Amino acid sequence: MNRSTSDPAPAKKPAHPPTYVEIDCTDAAPFPHSPTHGTEKETPPLFPNPTVLDEVLYDYLRRADKMGWSPYDLVDQENVKNLARPERLSETQLQAVQTVLYVEDHLPGYLSEYLEGLTHPDVPDEQYIVNRKALHYVFRWVGEEDRHAHVLEMYLKKTGLVTPAQLDADMLRERKTAYIFPYQHQVLEGFVYLALQEKATHLYYRALAKALDEPLLKAILTKMGADEASHGAFFYDLLIKCHKGDLDALARKVSAVSEDFKMPVQSNLTNYRRQLLSLMRSAPSYKHSDVFTDMMNAIEKAGQKYSRDSLTLISPELGPFDK
Ligand SMILES: [Fe+2]
Ligand SMILES: [Fe+2]
Repeated sequence: MNRSTSDPAPAKKPAHPPTYVEIDCTDAAPFPHSPTHGTEKETPPLFPNPTVLDEVLYDYLRRADKMGWSPYDLVDQENVKNLARPERLSETQLQAVQTVLYVEDHLPGYLSEYLEGLTHPDVPDEQYIVNRKALHYVFRWVGEEDRHAHVLEMYLKKTGLVTPAQLDADMLRERKTAYIFPYQHQVLEGFVYLALQEKATHLYYRALAKALDEPLLKAILTKMGADEASHGAFFYDLLIKCHKGDLDALARKVSAVSEDFKMPVQSNLTNYRRQLLSLMRSAPSYKHSDVFTDMMNAIEKAGQKYSRDSLTLISPELGPFDK
């Protein structure tokens, strides 16, 4: 899921996409110096670090292979007839599910943003190679987000909760609001933002599933939540491994981005205050601050693990007990 700014004013497209910036990524392999007008100009490190990217890509893609599921299996005739209890949804809960669908359905907008940024030719060759590698993640990720929009659309139509014509019209209206990625020139902040956003959707779907008394919708939200957890894990792993030598710097960045973090796309929804209210009322156990706490906990845990690892190097008998 993604989001934009309030009252979506058309933002200017960046002249140069956010493909690489100066960041403090302690493991980053230095990009070779390239002469500029007779002087040596130091270029920023590659981001993400290619070795780290390979590692987290492997974990994410292998996980995604095993987690595959199809909307056609979940919302098949048998489940709609025997499992679904759409009459148990309140008006507010139905509105919340529709809002989740609109948010997930913004996918074509943000895919084109990422694609443009990661295929822009005006970057050093080494960064271009890393960007192509990053697309392995992007393509699977957006495939999974698309699955979320598709399964909810099928659910709402096949259970008769919304007529196909009405839902098509509603989705069209919401889809037409522009999606602008909020951190176009700040790659690291953009990655932190994506980590928080994926964690927010994971925690929200979990809370919504818990609050509903509709077995088929619970099953759908559980599958969606697992995908969001996997997306969150990709960004957590990437950021933490890139900051292995300076997790404090990462924690500071997470604090800064969290300051004005909002639920994905909440601001470019039509009547977004009303839609946001339905979202929150339908999942009372969701707490926005838990998203920030979850990421800080992951960083803290990584800090403990890395300090144990360095102890192990010096003195193997002090190694962690859990290995
Ligand atoms: Fe999603
Ligand atoms: Fe996601």
